[in-house]
Parts: sequence; structure tokens; C-alpha cells
Amino acid sequence: MSPAPRPPAVRLDRLLANLGYGSRREIHALVRKGEVVLDGRSVSDAGARIGLTADMTERMTIQGVPVDPPAPLVLMIHKPAGVVCSHREPGRSVYELLPSRWRSRIPALSSVGRLDLDTTGLLLITDDGDFLHRVISPKSHAPKRYITRLAEPLVGTESEVFARGDLVLEGEDRPLAPARLEVLDPFTARLTLTEGRYHQVKRMFAAVGNHVTALHRDRIGALDLPPDLTPGAWRRLSPVQCAAVLLEADDTPSLA
Ligand code: URA
Repeated sequence: MSPAPRPPAVRLDRLLANLGYGSRREIHALVRKGEVVLDGRSVSDAGARIGLTADMTERMTIQGVPVDPPAPLVLMIHKPAGVVCSHREPGRSVYELLPSRWRSRIPALSSVGRLDLDTTGLLLITDDGDFLHRVISPKSHAPKRYITRLAEPLVGTESEVFARGDLVLEGEDRPLAPARLEVLDPFTARLTLTEGRYHQVKRMFAAVGNHVTALHRDRIGALDLPPDLTPGAWRRLSPVQCAAVLLEADDTPSLA
């Protein structure tokens, strides 16, 4: 059997600066005060190279608190209404719901696609560019499921119109991919899309003469918004959950 590969070695001061713990100078001061502890011992040299392992949060503390997880980091957040997904747009952003230090992380965290200001539900946030591109790439077809509340009662033909794959949104010339609509009651439907065009759900209902009054995303791929993740709350995704994002949910009852 070949030996386990050695973890990558990184300079401690650079690692902590990239995690937002301050400038190199501030990190050197933390080290001098004995506030950086690795594997149970105070680190004495801020420039030391350390092996970067997946369990860093268990091996290192800063001022007695477990160090933040290094990149790559993937989070899910229950986006509340009234926050924007962009770093640049004015207004309160989803990033303000995370620890403030995380706004200084390098690589920066960004949302995987966007939800409108008034849309709620499952949003992924990551610093992993490969993961982000795999999810948003038009080739991924990762299904996104929305619960849609409507101003007018559904007329009964919407499922067929959306499933046909020939609906062209106003201002576009390429038809939408087929989408699945499940009617839950006359004013509520579940819509599953495999693309992410600008304001897509609202524009699809506008195209059939209706108006979306509330929009909530409850699933991406095979990853559901956990019922105990309250609006504004977030948690890290495990590798299995990251893989689930790129799979299709199987809603058929399991035999087990
Ligand atoms: N479609 C929309 O219209 N808005 C969203 O926020 C997401 C999908």
C-alpha cells in the first residue's frame, strides 16, 4: 500500500490572514501572545509552515476558539426576504448573516447563483470556484425547485405549457428548457427548473398571465432545505451534501 499523501504545507500567518484574522502584523502579535494553539501547543513562529489538513478546526484554536474552516467551504443558508445576494448591490446582504470575519476571507465567499430580494429559501454560498461553476453551468442541469404563490388561480394549462419546452420569455429568442409544474392548490404550485435565467420563475408566470406574490426555493439537486434551518440560519455542507447538489432527487418511495 502506498503511504498517505502529505498534506499541503502553508505559512501559518498567510493561512490566518486569508481566513480574515487580521493583517500579517496582527497575526504575528497573536502568536507572540501565545494565542494561536496548534495540536495542543502554542505556536512560537508565525512564519512556520504547517500541514493543512481537513480537521484544522479540531487542531487549532485562536484565543481559545476553534479556527474557522479553511477553503474550500460550502454553506447552505436559509435566505430570508429583504437581503440581496450580491456584494455590490446596495442593501443588507446574505454575507452579513455570516460571521463578520468571513467577509475578509481569501478566496472570497460568493453565492451560487442568486435569489431575488424578496425570494426566500435554499441558497448555497462557497469559496470553491470549481463547485460554483459546476452547479451554475448550463451543462449541469441541476434542478432547482420553487414553491410559488400566485395572485390569480391557476387555469390548468400551465403544466403543459411549461413542460413543452417551447416557451420563449419576453426579450429572449431561445426557448426555455422543459420545466415541471405540480399544482398544490389553486394559488400554489411547485416548479422545478433546470436552468437559471434572470427572474425566470416570475417571468414564466407573467408569460401565462399570472403574477408571483411569493417565491421560496426548497431544493437544489437532491439537497433539500432542512426544515430546522430557520430563516437567516446557515450551516456547512458535508461532502455528501455537496455531491447531492449535482444529483437529481428521486421522489419515488424507497423500498427499505
Ligand atoms: N426566479 C425568480 O423569478 N426569482 C428568483 O429569485 C429565483 C428564480
